[in-house]
Amino acid sequence: MKGIKHIVKGAPILPILQADSVEQALNIAKAVEASGLKNLEVVRRTDAAAASVTAIREAFPDMVVGMGTVLSPEHAKEAVEAGSQFLVTPTVSPRLLDGLMSSGVPFIPGTSNPADILMASEYGLTELKFFPAHLSGGAPMLKALGGIFQNISFCPTGGISGSNLNDYLSLKNVFAVGGSWMIPSDMVKAENWQGITDTCKQALEAFEGLRP
Ligand code: 3PG
Repeated sequence: MKGIKHIVKGAPILPILQADSVEQALNIAKAVEASGLKNLEVVRRTDAAAASVTAIREAFPDMVVGMGTVLSPEHAKEAVEAGSQFLVTPTVSPRLLDGLMSSGVPFIPGTSNPADILMASEYGLTELKFFPAHLSGGAPMLKALGGIFQNISFCPTGGISGSNLNDYLSLKNVFAVGGSWMIPSDMVKAENWQGITDTCKQALEAFEGLRP
């Protein structure tokens, strides 16, 4: 199975989409795609999540769409049945990791400390989420973890914004960053789709600025 690093398309930036309806999810996905970003994590925090993944995959076949907030093997199964191309979890347990390992799709298990990271690495996993990144020590903590877990790379999420994005993306043990800041809930409420495209574009430009 391909590692998650290899399915994140283009810029390693993962906007987090939470939608109350499929129609809203499609509008958000269209706004994100218009920015040039190709990846989307639909969080499993509303009843519309699974149907939104299915609809986005159908309407935007060039996007890579995953499901986040996966907490159990049952959630993982539902997510894959809905068409999720990858899975994201906020934390780890042996039961959840067993479910992810047999899901058949790449996944990013959530870790926030050395014990979680060790548990995930005992499963042979080397690409992990770091959540909640800011509250768990932010970029300095990731640097410290890099000294201990030299073969692990992270996708931090939680408290990331346009203003601290580069602190994370410039670390050598960070392969991607994710967050909801690119799809602000007030813009979704106001149906400000252009605002979402612009916010996503700013993130993309910040990343491009890091390239030599
Ligand atoms: C997640 O699911 O990874 C977090 O909700 C993202 O946190 P953020 O809303 O601070 O970006």
